[in-house]
Amino acid sequence: MRLGNSAESLEAAKRAVHLSDCVLRLCITVSHLNKAMYFACDNLLWAGKTGLLPRLDQDKWSQRSFRYYLFALILNLTRDLYEIHGLMERERRSKSHHLSGVVENGEFPSTPSSCSSVITTRLEQQLHLLTTVLRSNPPLLLDTLKNLCDVFIPLDKLGLYQTGPGFVGACGLASSVLSILTVLYPWLKLKP
Ligand SMILES: *[C@@H]1O[C@H](CO)[C@@H](O)[C@H](O)[C@H]1NC(C)=O
Repeated sequence: MRLGNSAESLEAAKRAVHLSDCVLRLCITVSHLNKAMYFACDNLLWAGKTGLLPRLDQDKWSQRSFRYYLFALILNLTRDLYEIHGLMERERRSKSHHLSGVVENGEFPSTPSSCSSVITTRLEQQLHLLTTVLRSNPPLLLDTLKNLCDVFIPLDKLGLYQTGPGFVGACGLASSVLSILTVLYPWLKLKP
């Protein structure tokens, strides 16, 4: 069953090679390859623990497995950000299309524009776009949240950003709850 995980990730990588969007193709394929490596390391660790490979350096292999896991998560987050960015662009364009003439480049021409008020207005607009996009895309929101929760686990284990066992435990729990949601309600699963 453990060996199956690696094979499954390799299969998923093979499927992702055919995606037409090149950023998605790269992120998803390499992410699955990293996940396959992570599972492979995990299998070795398991063999080390059960005594099949008594001389395995468990610390080294566990660090290695977390590194693959971290890289897979970073790629998944990149993919999430890429999709969010694309949807925000699309939303912004369709909006300024509706209001064409009134809003030019998202700025009201007659606003008295001190530098900081322009920045604040822009930030507010971006934030508004972000919430609109995430609210209309629950699978994307869920995937982003899950990846954000997950990423703290390898960061802590690798000593890159230590948050303590309590926080890591809470992240793991939140991540499990989010994945249970996608199992219960398959439409919440981000595709592909
Ligand atoms: C990364 O995303 C893919 C596709 O959504 C998913 O199958 C995979 O499990 C994710 N990787 C990790 C490490 O969570």
